[in-house]
Amino acid sequence: MNTRNKLKNINPYKAGSSKILGKKNVIKLSSNESPFGPSQKVLKVIQQVSNTANRYPESESRSLKNSISKRYKLNKKNIFCANGSDEILGLICQLYLTKGDEVIIPKNSFLMYEIYSKIHNAKIIKSKTSNFEVDTNNILSNINKKTKIIFVANPNNPTGLYIDKNNLNKFIKKIPKRIILVLDAAYAEYITSSDYENGMKYVSKYKNIIVTRTFSKIYGLASLRLGWCYANEEIIELLDRIRGPFNVNRVAQEAGSIAIAEEDIERKLVAHNRKWLKTIKLELNKLPLIVYNSQANFIFIKLNNGITEKKKLNKYLLSKSIIIRTLDNYNLPECIRVTIGTESENKMLISTFKSFFKNAK
Ligand SMILES: Cc1ncc(COP(=O)(O)O)c(C=O)c1O
Repeated sequence: MNTRNKLKNINPYKAGSSKILGKKNVIKLSSNESPFGPSQKVLKVIQQVSNTANRYPESESRSLKNSISKRYKLNKKNIFCANGSDEILGLICQLYLTKGDEVIIPKNSFLMYEIYSKIHNAKIIKSKTSNFEVDTNNILSNINKKTKIIFVANPNNPTGLYIDKNNLNKFIKKIPKRIILVLDAAYAEYITSSDYENGMKYVSKYKNIIVTRTFSKIYGLASLRLGWCYANEEIIELLDRIRGPFNVNRVAQEAGSIAIAEEDIERKLVAHNRKWLKTIKLELNKLPLIVYNSQANFIFIKLNNGITEKKKLNKYLLSKSIIIRTLDNYNLPECIRVTIGTESENKMLISTFKSFFKNAK
C-alpha cells in the first residue's frame, strides 16, 4: 500500500469543539484546557517576547530545560522539549516503529497514540479494560516479540482513571527492557492522591521509560504548544536528532519558564480543581448518570439511558451555550467528558444538567 492510500485508514483527530453557531459567549468544557488564562507575569512575558518574532528561537530550549529541572529537581540531560507533548508522541513512533511492529494501547485511551502508530505502519493491539480501568495484566499478556511500544496515559484521557503506584511498580518490572513504555502524565499536576506516581522516578532505573508532560493543562498554555519528556539520555539524544531545529517557539519557551516556577498559582489551581471535581461529582451523582472518579481536570460520565439520551443532553447543553466532549471517536457513544471550568461555568454546568433531567421526567 502506498503512503497516501495507507493514510485513508487513519481517522483524523477531532478536537473538542470551541464554537456554537450563532452563540457569542460559550462555556467550553470540551478539551481539558485550563479555564484560566495565563498569569499576569506570563502574559507580560508573552507580550515582551512577541516583539522578537522576527528571530528564530533558541534551538535547544536551554533556559526552559533549566526551569523544568529546577522545579522538579531533574537532570537537564534527561529533558526534551517539544511543540506540545503531541510532537513527542509522534517522534517516539518515528524513532521506534517500522512495518510489522506492534504497539499496545489500552482500549479507550488518548487517540493520538493510535494515529501516530498507524502512520508508521504499526499494528495496534488494544488491551482490555475492566470497567474502564486499564488492565496492566492484559497489557502484559499481549506482549510478543513484535511489540515495540506500550502507551499508557496515567491518568487516562478520557476516563480520568489512573493506575496506582503499587500496580504501576509491578507492571513496569514485568515489561521487557527492549520495549519502550510511554507513560503519558499530561494531567499529573492535578493529582493529589498519595498512591499516584507520575513515573519520573523510574527513569533513572529503566532505560526504556519515557514520561511525557505538557504545559497545555494546569499551566494554561495549550495554544502556545509546549510539552516535554523525561527519559534516559540515549533516548533524549535520539529525539534531538530527529526533531526540527526550532521545534519550540520562543514565546512558548519563555512563557513556560515563568509558568512552571509559579508554584503558588499552581497550588491554587489544584485546590480549585479538587473542590469542583468533588462538587460536580456529588451533584451529578444525584442524577441518573454514572459519574466516574477522576483526579484529572475532567470528569467521565456514562449515560444510564445510552446514546439517545446522550444526544439529547448534548443538544440541550449546546442550546445553553455549553460545549462538552462527546466520545463517539473513542468508541464510547454513550459517554461524555466534561472539563472542570471556572466557578461560574461549573455552577452553570450543574444547573443545566439538573434542568435537563428535570425536564426529561
Ligand atoms: C493524555 C494526553 N496526552 C497528550 C495530550 C496532548 O497534549 P499537548 O497539548 O501537550 O500536545 C493530551 C491532550 O489532551 C492528553 O489528553
